[in-house]
Amino acid sequence: MINQIAVIGAGAMGTGIAQVFASFGYETILYDLNQDSLVKSRNKLQDVFNMLVQKGKITDSEAKSSFSRIHFASSLAGVKNADLVIEAIIEKLEVKQSLFKELEGLVSESCILASNTSSLSVTSIASACNRPGRVIGLHFFNPVPLMKLVEIIPAVQTHTATIETCKKLVDGIMKYGVLAKDTPGFIVNKVARPFYSESFRIYEEGIADFATIDWALTEFGGFKMGPFTLTDFIGHDVNYTVTESVWTAFYFDPRYTPAFCQKKLVEAGYLGKKAGKGFYDYSENSQNPSPLQDENLGKSIFHRVHAMLVNEAADTIHRGICTLEDVETAMTKGVNYPKGLINWGEELGYDYIVELLDGLYDYYHEARYRVSPYLRNKINS
Ligand SMILES: NC(=O)c1ccc[n+]([C@@H]2O[C@H](COP(=O)([O-])OP(=O)(O)OC[C@H]3O[C@@H](n4cnc5c(N)ncnc54)[C@H](O)[C@@H]3O)[C@@H](O)[C@H]2O)c1
Repeated sequence: MINQIAVIGAGAMGTGIAQVFASFGYETILYDLNQDSLVKSRNKLQDVFNMLVQKGKITDSEAKSSFSRIHFASSLAGVKNADLVIEAIIEKLEVKQSLFKELEGLVSESCILASNTSSLSVTSIASACNRPGRVIGLHFFNPVPLMKLVEIIPAVQTHTATIETCKKLVDGIMKYGVLAKDTPGFIVNKVARPFYSESFRIYEEGIADFATIDWALTEFGGFKMGPFTLTDFIGHDVNYTVTESVWTAFYFDPRYTPAFCQKKLVEAGYLGKKAGKGFYDYSENSQNPSPLQDENLGKSIFHRVHAMLVNEAADTIHRGICTLEDVETAMTKGVNYPKGLINWGEELGYDYIVELLDGLYDYYHEARYRVSPYLRNKINS
């Protein structure tokens, strides 16, 4: 039974996670080794609860009681009574392992230790512990209070009881919990790769400029933002690092090869909106390209990127990383795709997708375009 939750790391993710659990009635301890981060987090939480009251989303007394359930700890020992600790600190394996070791010396034997890592192996984190059966990945999405998905990632060592408790917990905070095998990028960060990388490839090959590709994917795909606008928004340093880490961790599988056009932006410091420049220019009076609104070209761009996404989702099922149902939930709730990819693939026709990918494979002779056996079996069955 989980009553008290401790969150370690009071940055963007930790602050959001604490807000959600406190709002659902959990006594929540928030700890950060940096006092400034803790103060900023406290101020941010206070502002957020005030804002929710102003917007009429919660009452003043709900805001006060939620905020009062968050206790700001200035030492790690403050987490000792927690039933669940969620770590959201810096993304470095050695630092997380050392924190988990230290935590084991403080908390009860039954306390679950969860990591919010986006890219590290949960199994490696668990391997630092004496009781690795209680270690699990709980991957929340940013901004945590708004994003409805949590990927639940058991390590190889994780006990079934730990998984079951976490599933119930995630249900209880009204989020969709999906179960993912401990593989690079888990579900969302793996399946979403072609949205960026195939679009970058189309751009690098001069098939279309970035404004046209963005237009194609929003106009014909119904995505809220095109890949160039979206990566400008996420930050190229962040997005490139995820791509590079998935590519490296999958033993340099060419399906995940990063794009030079993005690497150069990172090297130039053109990190996107936050830097005032990425693919687009965000300075005052800037002149950005307008899309060439050619319907045939737009549709062909959408179909190519879409086929790669469906293939990636299919392969995630084929490799047993998650179920069909969970990949659909993950992509619609974790990154707001307009439709689940497998259903969407069926709607456009698996035979059409396989034919398109086989055509690309024949043309490029690259393993990047290999069709997942999952799709091939679908059209042969
Ligand atoms: N930002 C995202 O979009 C996102 C999404 C999902 C998962 N994540 C993962 O969540 C984790 C945190 O990311 P973030 O964006 O909140 O980072 P952040 O930089 O905003 O916050 C990290 C906080 O951890 C603190 N910290 C660092 N080392 C610590 C330690 N040893 N003990 C206690 N506190 C420590 C820092 O002072 C900082 O306040 C990372 O593992 C990241 O990969 C991030």
